[in-house]
Amino acid sequence: MKYDFDRMIDRKGTYSIKHDHAARGMPEDVIPMWVADMDFQAAPCITEAIENRIRHGIFGYSVPDSGYFDTLCGWFERRFAWKTEREWIAQTPGVVNSLYIAIRALTAPDDGVVVQQPVYNPFWYAIRDTGRRLVNNELVYYGGRYGIDFDDFEEKIKGAKLFILCSPHNPTSRVWTREELFKMGEICLRHGVPIISDEIHQDIVYPDKRHHMLASLDERFADITVTCTAPSKTFNLAGLQLSNIIIPNEGLRGRFKQEYKRSGLNEPGVIGLTACKAAYDGGEGWLEELLAYLGGNFAMLHEFLCAKLPKVRLVEPEGTYLAWIDFSGLGYTDQELNDLMRDKARLWLNSGVTYGAGGAGFQRMNLGCPRSVLSEALKRLESAFGG
Ligand SMILES: Cc1ncc(COP(=O)(O)O)c(C=O)c1O
Repeated sequence: MKYDFDRMIDRKGTYSIKHDHAARGMPEDVIPMWVADMDFQAAPCITEAIENRIRHGIFGYSVPDSGYFDTLCGWFERRFAWKTEREWIAQTPGVVNSLYIAIRALTAPDDGVVVQQPVYNPFWYAIRDTGRRLVNNELVYYGGRYGIDFDDFEEKIKGAKLFILCSPHNPTSRVWTREELFKMGEICLRHGVPIISDEIHQDIVYPDKRHHMLASLDERFADITVTCTAPSKTFNLAGLQLSNIIIPNEGLRGRFKQEYKRSGLNEPGVIGLTACKAAYDGGEGWLEELLAYLGGNFAMLHEFLCAKLPKVRLVEPEGTYLAWIDFSGLGYTDQELNDLMRDKARLWLNSGVTYGAGGAGFQRMNLGCPRSVLSEALKRLESAFGG
Protein backbone atom coordinates (compact mmCIF):
# COMPACT_ATOMS: atom_id res chain seq x y z
CA MET A 1 0.00 0.00 0.00
CA LYS A 2 1.20 3.45 -0.88
CA TYR A 3 -0.85 5.18 1.82
CA ASP A 4 -0.66 4.47 5.53
CA PHE A 5 -4.14 3.96 6.95
CA ASP A 6 -2.69 2.18 9.99
CA ARG A 7 -1.15 5.35 11.33
CA MET A 8 -2.67 6.60 14.58
CA ILE A 9 -3.16 10.35 14.69
CA ASP A 10 -4.27 12.15 17.82
CA ARG A 11 -7.29 14.26 16.93
CA LYS A 12 -7.85 15.75 20.36
CA GLY A 13 -7.65 19.54 20.45
CA THR A 14 -8.34 19.86 16.71
CA TYR A 15 -11.96 21.07 17.03
CA SER A 16 -13.08 17.50 16.30
CA ILE A 17 -16.73 16.77 17.13
CA LYS A 18 -15.98 13.07 17.11
CA HIS A 19 -13.11 13.19 19.59
CA ASP A 20 -14.29 15.94 21.88
CA HIS A 21 -15.47 13.65 24.68
CA ALA A 22 -15.80 15.89 27.67
CA ALA A 23 -18.04 18.39 25.91
CA ARG A 24 -20.55 15.63 25.23
CA GLY A 25 -20.57 14.00 28.61
CA MET A 26 -18.66 10.93 27.50
CA PRO A 27 -15.97 9.27 29.63
CA GLU A 28 -12.44 10.24 28.54
CA ASP A 29 -11.42 6.69 27.67
CA VAL A 30 -14.26 5.77 25.28
CA ILE A 31 -13.28 5.00 21.71
CA PRO A 32 -15.27 7.34 19.45
CA MET A 33 -16.79 5.37 16.57
CA TRP A 34 -19.89 7.44 15.99
CA VAL A 35 -20.19 10.55 13.76
CA ALA A 36 -19.37 9.86 10.11
CA ASP A 37 -15.87 11.16 9.59
CA MET A 38 -12.73 9.05 9.41
CA ASP A 39 -9.52 9.06 11.47
CA PHE A 40 -7.34 9.04 8.34
CA GLN A 41 -5.35 11.92 6.93
CA ALA A 42 -6.54 13.24 3.60
CA ALA A 43 -4.78 12.17 0.42
CA PRO A 44 -1.44 14.01 -0.01
CA CYS A 45 -2.61 15.58 -3.28
CA ILE A 46 -5.36 17.36 -1.32
CA THR A 47 -3.14 18.55 1.49
CA GLU A 48 -0.58 19.85 -1.02
CA ALA A 49 -3.23 21.76 -2.94
CA ILE A 50 -4.51 23.34 0.28
CA GLU A 51 -0.96 24.21 1.41
CA ASN A 52 -0.26 25.89 -1.92
CA ARG A 53 -3.46 27.85 -1.74
CA ILE A 54 -2.73 28.90 1.85
CA ARG A 55 0.74 30.07 0.85
CA HIS A 56 -0.90 32.42 -1.61
CA GLY A 57 -2.12 34.21 1.48
CA ILE A 58 -5.14 36.04 0.12
CA PHE A 59 -8.53 34.62 1.00
CA GLY A 60 -11.12 36.82 -0.62
CA TYR A 61 -14.57 35.78 -1.88
CA SER A 62 -14.35 32.83 -4.19
CA VAL A 63 -16.14 31.35 -7.16
CA PRO A 64 -15.52 28.04 -8.98
CA ASP A 65 -13.92 28.38 -12.41
CA SER A 66 -14.31 26.28 -15.54
CA GLY A 67 -11.46 23.96 -14.47
CA TYR A 68 -13.38 23.17 -11.30
CA PHE A 69 -16.48 22.21 -13.26
CA ASP A 70 -14.45 20.17 -15.78
CA THR A 71 -13.06 18.18 -12.87
CA LEU A 72 -16.48 17.60 -11.31
CA CYS A 73 -18.17 16.60 -14.55
CA GLY A 74 -15.20 14.34 -15.31
CA TRP A 75 -15.66 12.54 -11.98
CA PHE A 76 -19.36 11.87 -12.50
CA GLU A 77 -18.80 10.70 -16.07
CA ARG A 78 -15.74 8.54 -15.35
CA ARG A 79 -17.06 6.85 -12.25
CA PHE A 80 -20.82 6.81 -12.82
CA ALA A 81 -21.23 7.24 -16.57
CA TRP A 82 -23.32 10.36 -16.06
CA LYS A 83 -22.69 13.28 -18.41
CA THR A 84 -23.45 16.39 -16.41
CA GLU A 85 -23.33 20.03 -17.45
CA ARG A 86 -21.72 22.72 -15.38
CA GLU A 87 -24.86 24.88 -15.41
CA TRP A 88 -26.67 22.16 -13.50
CA ILE A 89 -24.31 22.21 -10.51
CA ALA A 90 -24.52 24.52 -7.49
CA GLN A 91 -22.09 24.70 -4.58
CA THR A 92 -23.43 24.76 -1.03
CA PRO A 93 -21.79 24.44 2.40
CA GLY A 94 -23.20 20.96 2.96
CA VAL A 95 -25.71 18.31 2.03
CA VAL A 96 -27.79 18.74 5.19
CA ASN A 97 -28.34 22.44 4.64
CA SER A 98 -29.11 21.65 0.99
CA LEU A 99 -31.86 19.29 2.19
CA TYR A 100 -33.43 22.13 4.16
CA ILE A 101 -33.17 24.43 1.15
CA ALA A 102 -34.59 21.88 -1.29
CA ILE A 103 -37.48 20.99 1.02
CA ARG A 104 -38.42 24.64 1.38
CA ALA A 105 -37.96 25.25 -2.35
CA LEU A 106 -40.01 22.29 -3.56
CA THR A 107 -42.80 21.91 -1.00
CA ALA A 108 -45.19 23.94 1.16
CA PRO A 109 -45.83 23.70 4.91
CA ASP A 110 -47.73 20.53 5.90
CA ASP A 111 -46.83 18.75 2.64
CA GLY A 112 -45.87 15.10 3.08
CA VAL A 113 -42.23 14.12 2.49
CA VAL A 114 -41.32 10.43 2.17
CA VAL A 115 -38.21 8.90 3.75
CA GLN A 116 -37.18 5.29 4.31
CA GLN A 117 -36.39 4.60 7.96
CA PRO A 118 -34.20 3.60 9.56
CA VAL A 119 -32.37 6.45 7.87
CA TYR A 120 -29.90 9.29 8.50
CA ASN A 121 -31.74 11.33 11.13
CA PRO A 122 -31.24 14.87 9.71
CA PHE A 123 -33.61 13.79 6.90
CA TRP A 124 -36.56 14.02 9.21
CA TYR A 125 -35.14 16.81 11.35
CA ALA A 126 -35.20 18.83 8.13
CA ILE A 127 -38.81 17.78 7.45
CA ARG A 128 -39.85 18.64 10.99
CA ASP A 129 -37.91 21.91 11.18
CA THR A 130 -39.40 23.19 7.94
CA GLY A 131 -42.96 22.38 9.10
CA ARG A 132 -43.49 19.56 6.60
CA ARG A 133 -45.03 16.16 7.37
CA LEU A 134 -42.91 13.03 7.74
CA VAL A 135 -44.18 10.05 5.74
CA ASN A 136 -42.27 6.84 6.34
CA ASN A 137 -41.87 3.99 3.88
CA GLU A 138 -40.09 1.77 6.39
CA LEU A 139 -37.47 -0.52 4.93
CA VAL A 140 -38.05 -4.24 5.22
CA TYR A 141 -35.42 -6.24 7.13
CA TYR A 142 -35.49 -9.82 6.08
CA GLY A 143 -32.84 -12.52 6.20
CA GLY A 144 -30.18 -10.06 7.36
CA ARG A 145 -30.76 -7.67 4.46
CA TYR A 146 -32.82 -4.58 3.79
CA GLY A 147 -35.27 -4.08 0.95
CA ILE A 148 -38.13 -1.84 -0.11
CA ASP A 149 -41.85 -2.53 0.22
CA PHE A 150 -42.81 -1.04 -3.15
CA ASP A 151 -46.58 -1.29 -2.61
CA ASP A 152 -46.24 0.73 0.56
CA PHE A 153 -43.81 3.08 -1.23
CA GLU A 154 -46.37 3.83 -3.94
CA GLU A 155 -49.14 4.37 -1.38
CA LYS A 156 -46.95 6.81 0.53
CA ILE A 157 -45.73 8.62 -2.59
CA LYS A 158 -49.35 9.12 -3.74
CA GLY A 159 -50.02 11.28 -0.71
CA ALA A 160 -46.69 13.15 -0.72
CA LYS A 161 -45.00 16.05 -2.47
CA LEU A 162 -41.35 15.00 -2.17
CA PHE A 163 -39.21 11.89 -1.67
CA ILE A 164 -35.78 11.95 -0.01
CA LEU A 165 -33.72 8.97 -1.10
CA CYS A 166 -30.54 7.95 0.70
CA SER A 167 -28.30 6.22 -1.85
CA PRO A 168 -26.17 4.41 -0.76
CA HIS A 169 -28.27 4.12 2.34
CA ASN A 170 -27.04 5.24 5.75
CA PRO A 171 -27.20 3.39 8.16
CA THR A 172 -28.18 0.07 6.52
CA SER A 173 -25.30 0.27 4.00
CA ARG A 174 -27.54 -0.84 1.11
CA VAL A 175 -26.34 0.10 -2.37
CA TRP A 176 -29.59 0.17 -4.32
CA THR A 177 -29.63 -1.87 -7.51
CA ARG A 178 -30.52 -0.45 -10.88
CA GLU A 179 -33.86 -2.26 -10.72
CA GLU A 180 -34.73 -0.84 -7.30
CA LEU A 181 -33.80 2.67 -8.41
CA PHE A 182 -35.86 2.30 -11.59
CA LYS A 183 -38.89 1.17 -9.63
CA MET A 184 -38.64 4.11 -7.22
CA GLY A 185 -38.06 6.55 -10.07
CA GLU A 186 -41.04 5.26 -12.08
CA ILE A 187 -43.36 5.49 -9.08
CA CYS A 188 -42.30 9.07 -8.37
CA LEU A 189 -42.79 9.98 -12.05
CA ARG A 190 -46.23 8.38 -12.07
CA HIS A 191 -47.33 10.58 -9.19
CA GLY A 192 -45.46 13.73 -10.11
CA VAL A 193 -43.27 13.67 -6.99
CA PRO A 194 -39.76 15.16 -7.20
CA ILE A 195 -36.81 13.43 -5.56
CA ILE A 196 -33.88 14.58 -3.48
CA SER A 197 -31.27 11.87 -4.01
CA ASP A 198 -28.62 12.14 -1.29
CA GLU A 199 -25.63 10.38 -2.83
CA ILE A 200 -22.96 11.65 -0.45
CA HIS A 201 -21.74 8.05 0.11
CA GLN A 202 -21.62 7.25 -3.63
CA ASP A 203 -17.90 6.50 -3.82
CA ILE A 204 -17.72 4.12 -0.86
CA VAL A 205 -18.99 0.91 -2.37
CA TYR A 206 -17.58 -2.61 -1.96
CA PRO A 207 -16.64 -5.24 -4.58
CA ASP A 208 -19.52 -6.71 -6.58
CA LYS A 209 -21.69 -3.69 -5.89
CA ARG A 210 -22.14 -0.73 -8.17
CA HIS A 211 -23.55 2.65 -7.31
CA HIS A 212 -25.85 4.14 -9.93
CA MET A 213 -26.60 7.82 -9.78
CA LEU A 214 -30.39 7.84 -9.98
CA ALA A 215 -30.50 10.74 -12.42
CA SER A 216 -28.05 8.99 -14.74
CA LEU A 217 -30.42 6.07 -15.35
CA ASP A 218 -33.08 7.93 -17.29
CA GLU A 219 -33.49 11.52 -18.47
CA ARG A 220 -36.97 11.51 -17.01
CA PHE A 221 -35.48 10.81 -13.57
CA ALA A 222 -32.87 13.52 -14.07
CA ASP A 223 -35.69 15.93 -14.78
CA ILE A 224 -37.31 15.47 -11.34
CA THR A 225 -34.20 14.94 -9.22
CA VAL A 226 -31.98 17.08 -7.01
CA THR A 227 -28.80 15.05 -6.58
CA CYS A 228 -26.67 15.85 -3.54
CA THR A 229 -22.98 14.97 -3.78
CA ALA A 230 -19.84 15.98 -1.92
CA PRO A 231 -16.20 14.95 -1.65
CA SER A 232 -16.57 15.04 2.14
CA LYS A 233 -17.31 11.39 3.02
CA THR A 234 -15.11 9.91 0.30
CA PHE A 235 -12.04 12.02 1.05
CA ASN A 236 -12.68 12.87 4.71
CA LEU A 237 -13.18 16.60 4.16
CA ALA A 238 -16.38 17.24 6.13
CA GLY A 239 -14.86 20.15 8.06
CA LEU A 240 -14.26 22.05 4.82
CA GLN A 241 -17.97 22.37 4.11
CA LEU A 242 -18.42 22.00 0.40
CA SER A 243 -21.00 20.04 -1.52
CA ASN A 244 -22.07 19.98 -5.14
CA ILE A 245 -25.79 19.82 -5.86
CA ILE A 246 -26.83 18.74 -9.35
CA ILE A 247 -30.20 19.88 -10.70
CA PRO A 248 -30.64 19.41 -14.46
CA ASN A 249 -34.21 20.77 -14.56
CA GLU A 250 -34.09 24.53 -14.96
CA GLY A 251 -37.31 25.19 -13.05
CA LEU A 252 -36.28 23.12 -10.03
CA ARG A 253 -32.81 24.63 -10.14
CA GLY A 254 -34.20 28.16 -10.17
CA ARG A 255 -36.35 27.44 -7.13
CA PHE A 256 -33.42 25.87 -5.30
CA LYS A 257 -31.13 28.81 -6.04
CA GLN A 258 -33.74 31.35 -5.01
CA GLU A 259 -34.28 29.57 -1.69
CA TYR A 260 -30.49 29.36 -1.21
CA LYS A 261 -30.25 33.14 -1.51
CA ARG A 262 -33.25 33.62 0.73
CA SER A 263 -31.44 31.62 3.40
CA GLY A 264 -28.70 34.24 3.41
CA LEU A 265 -26.04 31.89 2.10
CA ASN A 266 -23.46 33.06 -0.44
CA GLU A 267 -20.22 31.99 -2.11
CA PRO A 268 -18.48 28.68 -1.35
CA GLY A 269 -15.28 28.71 0.75
CA VAL A 270 -12.03 28.76 -1.16
CA ILE A 271 -10.37 25.93 0.78
CA GLY A 272 -13.34 23.64 0.16
CA LEU A 273 -13.21 24.37 -3.58
CA THR A 274 -9.46 23.80 -3.68
CA ALA A 275 -9.73 20.51 -1.80
CA CYS A 276 -12.64 19.25 -3.89
CA LYS A 277 -10.85 19.86 -7.17
CA ALA A 278 -7.63 18.27 -5.92
CA ALA A 279 -9.51 15.24 -4.62
CA TYR A 280 -11.41 14.55 -7.83
CA ASP A 281 -8.32 15.29 -9.95
CA GLY A 282 -5.77 13.22 -8.08
CA GLY A 283 -7.43 11.20 -5.31
CA GLU A 284 -8.55 8.09 -7.15
CA GLY A 285 -5.52 5.97 -6.19
CA TRP A 286 -5.96 6.93 -2.54
CA LEU A 287 -9.66 6.08 -2.74
CA GLU A 288 -8.98 2.61 -4.14
CA GLU A 289 -6.62 1.88 -1.25
CA LEU A 290 -9.10 3.31 1.25
CA LEU A 291 -11.81 0.98 -0.06
CA ALA A 292 -9.51 -2.02 0.30
CA TYR A 293 -8.62 -0.97 3.85
CA LEU A 294 -12.24 -0.43 4.86
CA GLY A 295 -13.11 -3.80 3.34
CA GLY A 296 -10.46 -5.31 5.62
CA ASN A 297 -12.02 -3.61 8.63
CA PHE A 298 -15.45 -4.99 7.76
CA ALA A 299 -13.98 -8.47 7.32
CA MET A 300 -12.29 -8.24 10.72
CA LEU A 301 -15.54 -7.18 12.40
CA HIS A 302 -17.48 -9.93 10.65
CA GLU A 303 -15.00 -12.65 11.65
CA PHE A 304 -14.93 -11.39 15.21
CA LEU A 305 -18.72 -11.44 15.56
CA CYS A 306 -19.01 -14.94 14.08
CA ALA A 307 -16.32 -16.27 16.40
CA LYS A 308 -16.96 -14.40 19.63
CA LEU A 309 -20.47 -12.92 19.62
CA PRO A 310 -22.55 -15.19 17.38
CA LYS A 311 -25.82 -13.68 18.60
CA VAL A 312 -24.77 -10.29 17.22
CA ARG A 313 -25.14 -9.91 13.48
CA LEU A 314 -23.44 -7.58 11.03
CA VAL A 315 -25.75 -6.50 8.21
CA GLU A 316 -23.85 -7.32 5.02
CA PRO A 317 -21.89 -4.20 4.10
CA GLU A 318 -22.53 -2.99 0.56
CA GLY A 319 -21.44 0.62 0.89
CA THR A 320 -20.41 3.39 3.37
CA TYR A 321 -17.88 2.94 6.17
CA LEU A 322 -20.68 2.55 8.71
CA ALA A 323 -21.33 -0.92 10.09
CA TRP A 324 -24.99 -1.58 10.97
CA ILE A 325 -25.04 -4.20 13.67
CA ASP A 326 -28.02 -6.13 15.01
CA PHE A 327 -27.66 -6.65 18.78
CA SER A 328 -31.29 -7.68 19.29
CA GLY A 329 -30.25 -11.33 19.82
CA LEU A 330 -28.73 -10.31 23.18
CA GLY A 331 -32.15 -9.33 24.54
CA TYR A 332 -31.32 -5.90 25.98
CA THR A 333 -33.52 -2.83 25.76
CA ASP A 334 -32.00 0.05 23.80
CA GLN A 335 -31.37 1.95 27.00
CA GLU A 336 -29.54 -1.04 28.51
CA LEU A 337 -27.57 -1.55 25.33
CA ASN A 338 -26.54 2.10 25.14
CA ASP A 339 -25.53 2.15 28.81
CA LEU A 340 -23.51 -1.05 28.48
CA MET A 341 -21.84 0.21 25.32
CA ARG A 342 -20.71 3.40 27.01
CA ASP A 343 -20.05 2.27 30.59
CA LYS A 344 -18.89 -1.32 30.17
CA ALA A 345 -17.50 -1.57 26.64
CA ARG A 346 -16.29 2.07 26.72
CA LEU A 347 -17.31 2.52 23.11
CA TRP A 348 -19.09 5.49 21.59
CA LEU A 349 -21.37 4.20 18.83
CA ASN A 350 -24.66 5.54 17.48
CA SER A 351 -27.76 3.96 18.95
CA GLY A 352 -30.00 2.44 16.28
CA VAL A 353 -33.09 4.23 17.56
CA THR A 354 -31.50 7.49 16.41
CA TYR A 355 -32.43 6.47 12.87
CA GLY A 356 -36.16 6.11 13.51
CA ALA A 357 -38.52 3.20 13.00
CA GLY A 358 -36.76 -0.12 12.60
CA GLY A 359 -33.62 1.03 14.41
CA ALA A 360 -34.33 -0.57 17.79
CA GLY A 361 -31.80 -3.23 18.80
CA PHE A 362 -29.16 -1.94 16.35
CA GLN A 363 -25.99 0.08 16.78
CA ARG A 364 -24.04 1.92 14.08
CA MET A 365 -20.27 1.62 14.26
CA ASN A 366 -17.94 3.84 12.22
CA LEU A 367 -15.13 1.71 10.76
CA GLY A 368 -13.16 4.65 9.34
CA CYS A 369 -10.30 4.07 11.76
CA PRO A 370 -6.92 2.34 11.91
CA ARG A 371 -7.16 -1.42 12.38
CA SER A 372 -5.46 -1.22 15.77
CA VAL A 373 -8.31 0.98 17.02
CA LEU A 374 -10.86 -1.48 15.68
CA SER A 375 -8.96 -4.35 17.26
CA GLU A 376 -9.10 -2.66 20.68
CA ALA A 377 -12.81 -1.91 20.17
CA LEU A 378 -13.49 -5.58 19.42
CA LYS A 379 -11.69 -6.65 22.58
CA ARG A 380 -13.89 -4.28 24.54
CA LEU A 381 -17.02 -5.62 22.87
CA GLU A 382 -16.02 -9.15 23.78
CA SER A 383 -15.38 -8.33 27.41
CA ALA A 384 -18.67 -6.42 27.70
CA PHE A 385 -20.97 -8.75 25.78
CA GLY A 386 -19.14 -12.10 25.48
CA GLY A 387 -19.55 -15.13 27.71
C1 LIG B 1 -26.65 10.43 4.07
C2 LIG B 1 -25.91 11.63 4.58
N1 LIG B 1 -26.18 12.85 4.11
C3 LIG B 1 -25.53 13.95 4.53
C4 LIG B 1 -24.53 13.85 5.49
C5 LIG B 1 -23.83 15.09 5.98
O1 LIG B 1 -23.56 15.93 4.94
P1 LIG B 1 -22.93 17.39 5.17
O2 LIG B 1 -21.83 17.24 6.16
O3 LIG B 1 -22.48 17.77 3.81
O4 LIG B 1 -24.06 18.24 5.67
C6 LIG B 1 -24.21 12.60 6.02
C7 LIG B 1 -23.17 12.47 7.06
O5 LIG B 1 -23.04 11.48 7.70
C8 LIG B 1 -24.91 11.47 5.55
O6 LIG B 1 -24.64 10.25 6.01
